[in-house]
This record gives sequence, C-alpha cells and structure tokens, in this order.
Amino acid sequence: MRIAVTGGAGYIGSHTVLELLDRGYEVIVIDDLSHGYRHNVPPGLLREITLSDTAAVKAALAEKPVDAVIHFAAFISVGESMQRPELYFQNNTCASLSLFTAMLQAGVRKLVFSSTAAVYGMPQSVPIREEFPYAPVNVYGESKVMVEKILDWFDPIHQFKSVCLRYFNASGADPQGRRGEEHQPETHLIPLLFRAIETGEPVKVFGGDYATPDGTCIRDYIHVTDLAQAHLFAVEHLLAGGASEKFNAGTGSGFSVKQMIESVERVTGKKVPYEIGPRRDGDPPELVADSGKLQRVLGWKPRFAQLDEIVRTAWNFERSRVISH
Ligand SMILES: NC(=O)c1ccc[n+]([C@@H]2O[C@H](COP(=O)([O-])OP(=O)(O)OC[C@H]3O[C@@H](n4cnc5c(N)ncnc54)[C@H](O)[C@@H]3O)[C@@H](O)[C@H]2O)c1
Repeated sequence: MRIAVTGGAGYIGSHTVLELLDRGYEVIVIDDLSHGYRHNVPPGLLREITLSDTAAVKAALAEKPVDAVIHFAAFISVGESMQRPELYFQNNTCASLSLFTAMLQAGVRKLVFSSTAAVYGMPQSVPIREEFPYAPVNVYGESKVMVEKILDWFDPIHQFKSVCLRYFNASGADPQGRRGEEHQPETHLIPLLFRAIETGEPVKVFGGDYATPDGTCIRDYIHVTDLAQAHLFAVEHLLAGGASEKFNAGTGSGFSVKQMIESVERVTGKKVPYEIGPRRDGDPPELVADSGKLQRVLGWKPRFAQLDEIVRTAWNFERSRVISH
C-alpha cells in the first residue's frame, strides 16, 4: 500500500511517516519546505511541491497508484492567522481544495485530515465531544472548519471518504530520538520551557487568574507518536472501506501550565524561569478531549499517558539537537 503524506517534513507529519514506514507502507511526502525540514524526510521520499500547484500534485499522485493521502500541510500559528487571514484561508483552505482536486483527477478518494480543537472555539463544557458545534474564535480554526465542510460535501457527491482528526496539543518526540519538535518560530509550550531553561529568559505564562485549580490554563497533551498511531489506524479504517468520520485526538486528561512547568523541572532537574502575564485573547481556560469515540471506533489508546514520559521524550530530543548543532 502506498500513502502520500502532505506536510511530511513537519513535526507531526514526519513522526507519522516513521510510523507508516515501520509498518511496511510505501510512502511519498509532498511538502514545499516552507516550514518543514529536508532532514525530516528519509532519502528518496520527498516531492518538493506546493499544494496549490494542482497539476504537480496530481503528477506526484499518479507516479504510481496511491491508496490514500494523509494531509498535514498547513500554516499553524493562531496569532499570525489573525494578522494575515488571507494567507491562512489561501494555504489551509484553498490549497487543501487544490489537493482534493488533484486527488480526484488521480483517482484517489481516501483522506485523513489534520483538523484541530480550535474548531470548537470556547467550548461550553469539558470534556469536549465531537458533536459540539463549530465555533472557532480565530482564522486558523475557521480555515480548518471550512475544509471539514468541503469534505462533508465531497463524500456524497464524489464518494470521497475522509477521517478528520481534531488534535488537541501535540507534544513530545519520537521515543527513539529520530524526530522531534522544531517549529520556527516556536509557539508550543514544552519547547518554550526548554528554551527558557537554556537562555535564562523567563517564559511568559498567559494568565494566572483563570477558574482552574492553580489559575493557569489547562490543555490536553497528546504524545506525537500516539497521534501518529491514530493516523495509521484512521488510514487503515479507510483502506478497509470504513465510513467518513470525525474524531477528537486527545488523551482525555488535562494538565495546567504550572503542572507542565513542574514536570519539565522534574525531568530536566533544572528550574524554569517564568513570569505570569495577562491573559491572551481567545484562550479558553480548559480544553480537554472526550476521546471515547477514537478509542471505541478505531481501537486507539494513548501509550504515553504520563506527563513526565511525554516531557522526557521531548527533552531527550532537545539535548540531542543541542549537541548536534
Ligand atoms: N502541532 C499541534 O499541536 C497541532 C494541533 C492541532 C492541529 N495541528 C495541525 O497538524 C498539522 C501539522 O502540524 P505541525 O505541528 O506538524 O506543523 P509543521 O509546521 O511542523 O508542519 C507542516 C508542514 O506542512 C508544510 N506545508 C505548509 N504549507 C504547505 C503547502 N501549501 N504545500 C506543501 N507543504 C506545505 C510545511 O513545510 C511543514 O513541513 C497542521 O495541519 C496543523 O494545523 C497541529
């Protein structure tokens, strides 16, 4: 079986490529390297193409029959999406439509899509279930809602089957140290805490007065290798003739920013310098998934449920990166 992975040079995509190769799948990666890295892609797999080039994407999909596409490629910064909405609607929504058009032309009708908890905006309650309404509070989330809606129409009209995985906070690194998180610029908490340790510059915590046990925001951290496995199960569901589905991809456990800081201090044995700043607009106090549907329908279970285990894999990668640079 041959799987095309868009965005496979990035953080989550590159971990999923490893998972697919480890399971014996043939893989090609379609990535324009706008944010990913050539060193994240094993030799021979990269097709350096941007998704809005429909003809080039079709040609890559037609080199040899592709059975399914896993689509990670997107821009991911919520803050940037509120300054440059046109960029996010173009790259996340229009470029996805270009990919789907190329897939139709190449006769590929199975897709796993990287969606996000941002489609729910400020949920009324937690844990969040899949049937909660779309209510994005930023352009990034809206750009993903639009793709989910395109896919809803493509199923009955084109018999185009999709699984949308709405990720909570992807975190950690490959336990064998082969890949890790290297966003540029970095906006994710664990790498930012490491950076604060390395530079001594305090990390800014956005809000310490939320109605949570310690006043800081609570998020659901899913290990990137567990997330990669969810993609494997999702693609296998589609390859077996399964129906289109939407799933939350989280663990169901929430941790506060302060709990993350404590975990990083335990794992690294170092103090994290931080300061509590004002709240950030549009940040819900608590985002935790109800991941029951993913567990029931796909038989998925998190293997990295302990926070310190997640942080340890990230720290091991961070140390190897510092040593090799
Ligand atoms: N990281 C998270 O916690 C998180 C949470 C929710 C959803 N997501 C979604 O998961 C996906 C992957 O996120 P990530 O953290 O691995 O991001 P990333 O930036 O590390 O990877 C994205 C990859 O897509 C490529 N890309 C972007 N636009 C492209 C285009 N038009 N054509 C070809 N390649 C393009 C980039 O070069 C990069 O390699 C994204 O769709 C993101 O919205 C991530």
